[in-house]
Amino acid sequence: MAQRYITEWTRTHRENFRKAPVLWRHRVHESPLFTDDRLIDLIEKHPRDLADFCTMNDGADDMSSWRGGDPGNHSGAELLAAVRSGRLWINLRKTFNIYDEYAALLKAMIGELKALNDGFAPVKVMGGLLISSPTAGVPYHIDRSDVLLWHLRGHKRVWVYPIDDETMPEHEVEEILLHEHNDDVPYNKAMDRKAVIYDLEPGMAATWPLHAPHRVLNQGDLNVSITVEYSPFSTIMQNGAQITNGILRRRLGLDPRIEEQGFASRFVRFAASRVLRKMNLVKARAAHEGGYLFKVDPHAETAVRELEEDRAMA
Ligand SMILES: [Fe+2]
Repeated sequence: MAQRYITEWTRTHRENFRKAPVLWRHRVHESPLFTDDRLIDLIEKHPRDLADFCTMNDGADDMSSWRGGDPGNHSGAELLAAVRSGRLWINLRKTFNIYDEYAALLKAMIGELKALNDGFAPVKVMGGLLISSPTAGVPYHIDRSDVLLWHLRGHKRVWVYPIDDETMPEHEVEEILLHEHNDDVPYNKAMDRKAVIYDLEPGMAATWPLHAPHRVLNQGDLNVSITVEYSPFSTIMQNGAQITNGILRRRLGLDPRIEEQGFASRFVRFAASRVLRKMNLVKARAAHEGGYLFKVDPHAETAVRELEEDRAMA
């Protein structure tokens, strides 16, 4: 199969894919689907329940500062201008699932990765479009699914950390999978010595192992990237096993370790997690229970107007 988008995939890429941090080159940024006009059109028409407008602290090193806001009735052009001048991070979730041209592009990208990597069989592939400000970033966190980050416009630095007892102890992964919380992660600057650092330019993409902690900081210009989330069966099973381990740890005081558990043991735990879910021991909690915490204001310094300021003025 001819590789139209992925321009570099060596034996090292193949060996490390999904096992270690991996960086590669592509041509997706040359597509005409990501000009300002196309972004404005997408921002304006994208269903609001699939659009996240977020902000964060200066330096983006504190997950507790991460909050969702109300885009209001601003036009697509006003909102893109607000991203350019402010500190905003927009995720138009499922852009690459709900619009035909974008879905065709994602299908081709994934098809190339499948052709390059024997046995790569992602399920539930979802593609979101990230548009973010020159000083925006995403604080230290882990994702529940596997992620591919395809960078298209601007510059961003990505730190990817190993999964160990200092950077992300197993009980923290379990906490996150159990949805107990997702903002109190054990990040401190000293951990940066362990990180693999990628400086992403347009035409570069990166991925890392499931549950590897990472953080991102834009480098002074408007950023556009595609975030692809997917889950092969192995991820669904591992998450199920870790949810079960989390419950064993909390209810029975055991100390299970995922890397010491072979396939059979993981499978039993995965099956158990489905039973536990039915028994309502796993509480699902909405990510933004408190609703919007700010309003997008293109005229404010970071394009953010805190809602408390509204209340104070009322
Ligand atoms: Fe992430």
